Amino acid sequence: MGRILLVDDEASMRRILAFNLRQDQHEIWEASGVQEARRALAANDFDVVVTDQRMPDGEGLAVLGYAHESDATLPVIFLTAVATIELAVESMRQGAFDFLTKPFQPEVVRATVRRAYERTRLLRENILLKDAVVRLEGTSEIFGESPAIREVRERIARVAPTSATVLITGETGTGKELVARAIHRNSPRASKPFVAVNCAAFTETLLESELFGHEKGAFTGADRQRQGLFEAAHDGTLFLDEAGEMSLPAQAKLLRVLTNGELLRVGSTRPRQVDVRVLVATHRNLQQRVKEGLFREDLFYRLAVVPIHLPPLRDRVEDIPGMSDIFCQQIATELKMPRRSLSEAALQQLRQYRFPGNLRELRNLIERAYILTSNLEIGPGDLPLAQKETVSAGNNGSHADSFAIPTSEGFDFWSTPRKNSSCAL
Ligand SMILES: Nc1ncnc2c1ncn2[C@@H]1O[C@H](COP(=O)(O)OP(=O)(O)OP(=O)(O)O)[C@@H](O)[C@H]1O
Ligand SMILES: [Mg+2]
Repeated sequence: MGRILLVDDEASMRRILAFNLRQDQHEIWEASGVQEARRALAANDFDVVVTDQRMPDGEGLAVLGYAHESDATLPVIFLTAVATIELAVESMRQGAFDFLTKPFQPEVVRATVRRAYERTRLLRENILLKDAVVRLEGTSEIFGESPAIREVRERIARVAPTSATVLITGETGTGKELVARAIHRNSPRASKPFVAVNCAAFTETLLESELFGHEKGAFTGADRQRQGLFEAAHDGTLFLDEAGEMSLPAQAKLLRVLTNGELLRVGSTRPRQVDVRVLVATHRNLQQRVKEGLFREDLFYRLAVVPIHLPPLRDRVEDIPGMSDIFCQQIATELKMPRRSLSEAALQQLRQYRFPGNLRELRNLIERAYILTSNLEIGPGDLPLAQKETVSAGNNGSHADSFAIPTSEGFDFWSTPRKNSSCAL
């Protein structure tokens, strides 16, 4: 139960009160006067204070003041032999929780302390909930009100404070990198490096040396020793994008780091310790890659501790109007152009569309309309969709069990040039 501070100059009174309150499993602290109470309150967190009124070195009202200085919500119960109406009124006015008289009835004191403790507990729970809401709102740069996206935001809020490995899956352009950055920003590592590396951009050997570093002479061209990105991300977060493309030897090394925090530079037998949180993204179905022998099963389970899946935009069409609006706003600001909006007919057309490039494609479509037309209201004609990519009736085009990038004919302007790696140190 709670941590209770008893303040009374009479040791026998404290002893009998403590005896009674311990029946409710409270942890009891004692102070024999106002000054001792002040020191105890400054150094510890309590859930309830029970105080006498008249003590040789001051009054219970002073204890109330110190208690509220340390925590404005801390309940203070007065227990006094000289009960006057004036004192009762004054202590309640100053925020006392209750006012009891001596000689006390043990049952009454116990019940009052229980009520006070319960109030403290609820208030603190409420504060924790509010913190969680702030954290959630802190990730509000991931927009969308569909149930799936709300769930993603909630998961981010839950997982961000931990060091758990997160596997982020979803088709191209669904926001995987956005999620990785949000996790880092909302984690205790936020002020430490966020290092992103695109595993698909390197050959087998290069990726290994990029991630884990190498010793001088480890391979042709390794003319001096080099630190890898894992070491660069020490104390921070390493984001392995397109992790499904890692070679099997690189996967073995990754598993070792994840299991015991040890890495081996290429060409070295001396393990080095690192403290890195790993976030992994892939547009591939890793389970399928495991079946095909291209991905280690043990690594898959190690990575998938907390999965976050981003559904394709065509499966959350209710987000299309809101997201279009947000992109219109963002692009107007970026291009320093007047704000535009999409006509209802344009939105209707987008709802029918398969969006192989997902949110990136939606953003690029709107940006293109901003640049190529001058209509303040963007109509269907301003959004050149690949006609073959509409969602046909009876098939919503979901690729729920394979995140393969759908091929599109004609338009592939949603894809971005691949970057190799980026360090935000
Ligand atoms: N929920 C969202 N709210 C706001 N913007 C979003 C959201 N989802 C995606 N975007 C935007 O869409 C674009 C693509 O997002 P991102 O790069 O994170 O996708 P990705 O899944 O990593 O894609 P790829 O697999 O191609 O690397 C970015 O401009 C991003 O800001
Ligand atoms: Mg990406």
